[in-house]
Amino acid sequence: MTGTSRQMKLGAFLWATGHHIAAWRHPKAHVTAGIDIDHYIQLARTAEAAKFDMIFCEDAAGLREANVGIASQTSRSIGFEPISLLSALAVQTERIGLVSTASTSYNEPYGLARTFLSLDHLSGGRAGWNLVTSASPIEAANFGSTGLKPHADRYERAREFSEVVTGLWHGKLDGASVSGHDGQSFSVREPLDLPRSPQGAPVMVQAGASDVGRDLAACTADVVFTAAQTFEEAKAFYDDLKGRLAAYGRDPDDIKIMPGVAPVVAETETEAREKYEELQELIPDDVGVALLSSYLSISDLGRYPIDGPLPELPVSEGMKSRQALVIEQSRRDNLSIRQLARHFAGARGHWRIVGTAVQIADELQARFEGNAADGFNVMPSWFPGELDAVATLVVPELQRRGLFRTEYEGRTLREHLGLKWPA
Ligand SMILES: Cc1cc2nc3c(=O)[nH]c(=O)nc-3n(C[C@H](O)[C@H](O)[C@H](O)COP(=O)(O)O)c2cc1C
Repeated sequence: MTGTSRQMKLGAFLWATGHHIAAWRHPKAHVTAGIDIDHYIQLARTAEAAKFDMIFCEDAAGLREANVGIASQTSRSIGFEPISLLSALAVQTERIGLVSTASTSYNEPYGLARTFLSLDHLSGGRAGWNLVTSASPIEAANFGSTGLKPHADRYERAREFSEVVTGLWHGKLDGASVSGHDGQSFSVREPLDLPRSPQGAPVMVQAGASDVGRDLAACTADVVFTAAQTFEEAKAFYDDLKGRLAAYGRDPDDIKIMPGVAPVVAETETEAREKYEELQELIPDDVGVALLSSYLSISDLGRYPIDGPLPELPVSEGMKSRQALVIEQSRRDNLSIRQLARHFAGARGHWRIVGTAVQIADELQARFEGNAADGFNVMPSWFPGELDAVATLVVPELQRRGLFRTEYEGRTLREHLGLKWPA
């Protein structure tokens, strides 16, 4: 196969039992996987042996979803605090990047800069921070009684927060100036009690989808995660974000855009479809309907017959675009509430590809070579089985095509990603 100098970046998005909403019901699932360090060591080593750029752990300081049932909550919400987890995985791995979410709304910049720089040092330059402003009212209720702060306020704080963190990381320590920061939300007397990172600074990750979120990514991020169903959506996001970089004096190559992909792979297409259907059949009706209700911003969908059509609904004041999408899909494909719930609950808005390694590699290659992605954040439907399948079937196919590395070229996450040493 022809080689190419531009190669894909791959992340393994780890999440307890798996990304499929019914992963915890899979016959081979391990329901308490979220608090089993051996489970995570196994996943990290699988991803490292397959030469993934990074593993990524999401986070929220609270339950992930309301009203989806105790068992589902247990498998999806119960898990280690991710920076603690990645610190343990740092000594069980050698090369793979270690990326964790942390919130700018419920932390202070000095403490967070120090924690990630410590992870970076103890892993030899493999840490990354996924900056989130935290949109969940469930989390907000754990940090005071004033509720979720408005989107614009959260991003204003996030911008100053990231300036302070990068200021601390980029180190006035080895230079002479100890300038400090005295801003609107934070006052910090630099410096940190650590030397400069082995990779210059931990890698900055962001997944902003809104205008202000994309702008913050353009200004600060090295890696951007996103959810895109179609090629056109992915391409539009890619072009938009890369187009914002010049305003910050940055090159298009300074950011790697890695949309989420949830592959279900097997030796044959029939087998892959059976695997997918097996999981789809396991979605508990109440969980599916609860999630669908939240997408539709209504509370009482459960009182309509589950095998009947979606009723006429008032226009949402919540997520308008998501509601319109669900209604359109239900009318276009003539789906019952149960079918619609399974459709949306299974994929959770991310791009799902079901097929053989060749079919999946074809799809990834088309988005990569069509400049709609620099790589992918792989979201296996259940662990460890589907990560194993990606590692043993899809990755070798990408390697055969010259689209993915067969060995790590460097030691740090920044080197894996082909990013410049930060100024
Ligand atoms: C792949 C991916 C991972 C994300 N991980 C988290 C997370 O761990 N915690 C969190 O609060 N939000 C997470 N988000 C949500 C984003 O941070 C962001 O809030 C969302 O995309 C909406 O964009 P906006 O903040 O610009 O409105 C994630 C989004 C994506 C696409």
